[in-house]
Amino acid sequence: MPELDSPLRQAPDSLMLTGFWYRALPADRVHRNQLHKAMLLEIPLVIGRDRAGRPFALHDACPHRGMPLHCGKFDGENLECSYHGWTFDAHNGQCQLIPSLTPDQTLKVDRIYAGSYPCEERDGFVWVYIPDPGPPGAGFAKPEEAPDLAPTVEKFSNKYKLAYLTADMPVSIDHGIIGLMDPAHGPFVHQAWWWRSRHSIHEKTKNFEPIPNGFRMSAHTPSSNSAPYKLLRLYAAAESITTTIDFVLPNLRRETIRAGKYWFSSLTTVTPITRNQCRIDVVAAWNIFRWMPFGPELLKFVFAKFVEQDRRTMELQAEGLKHNPHLMLIDDADRPAKWYFQLKAAYLEAKRTGGEMKHPMAGPVTLKWRS
Ligand code: FES
Ligand SMILES: [Fe+2]
Repeated sequence: MPELDSPLRQAPDSLMLTGFWYRALPADRVHRNQLHKAMLLEIPLVIGRDRAGRPFALHDACPHRGMPLHCGKFDGENLECSYHGWTFDAHNGQCQLIPSLTPDQTLKVDRIYAGSYPCEERDGFVWVYIPDPGPPGAGFAKPEEAPDLAPTVEKFSNKYKLAYLTADMPVSIDHGIIGLMDPAHGPFVHQAWWWRSRHSIHEKTKNFEPIPNGFRMSAHTPSSNSAPYKLLRLYAAAESITTTIDFVLPNLRRETIRAGKYWFSSLTTVTPITRNQCRIDVVAAWNIFRWMPFGPELLKFVFAKFVEQDRRTMELQAEGLKHNPHLMLIDDADRPAKWYFQLKAAYLEAKRTGGEMKHPMAGPVTLKWRS
């Protein structure tokens, strides 16, 4: 895709990428022997935990006549549809029983499947793998395997604390993601007397480099307004602090801050729920503030404020987007957003052709903006 000097008019396509793991629900909301509804990429899911506590995810529609399976009964192992009592293994979706069959009827029950999805618990969230849409074989298609494990929050010591925040955003995945990586909204959206005012705006220079499926804002001593960074400065000399921020398809933002033996690490995801709705989940791990009263609370407070400010902004933005206005992306502040769209296009192109994904960045790039 050519780089344009004039503002690039670009409307997000809101395409939701398959072939990836997505966060479905906070793990502490998924209880044993209970069924929970969730939606990912417009796919309705029923999520639960078996007797041993292991989570599972099934397509929330019975392969017989589409009854939502979350209305059924779950005994800790098998799920029984509430309409005609067909029973399915909760993990692989295989049909175990069709009560209406007489002994002489030879329908092979075990060839029927309720759609099931790879499902894992990681760092306080239940993750679900959404495969590429397969050939239509509804009811007889065996479950897919995930090619890799669900992403984790990076940790740098054995002892750490973990916390999460979650917020629904009434905008498409694309607006959710470019809103998350956008540096220019900070002084306007994230004002607070204890944080910064719009008058603190100043020129910044940041180095970026390509990484597989994404890009990295390279390690450096930040002059940043980042929340954990400001708090870390209470502990360590500014020069000793390094940080990296990675964005990786389809929706992962990793922030790592290290200062000697202290570290803070977060994995933020923007999950497509429907075409016009996404959810931001921040999971953070850290080993700082362990002795400091209110440390974690302070961090959570700051993060909750930020996420709420973003949520409110996107709620208002959704009003403006209702009537499909023309939009633009400008240099350099919107360059990461351009890379995101280019990465997405490159990923889809590689899928289409079956070839290698062509990374849109040729090498390291320095960007400048005022924020
Ligand atoms: S619809 Fe589920 S058993 Fe008939
Ligand atoms: Fe923000």
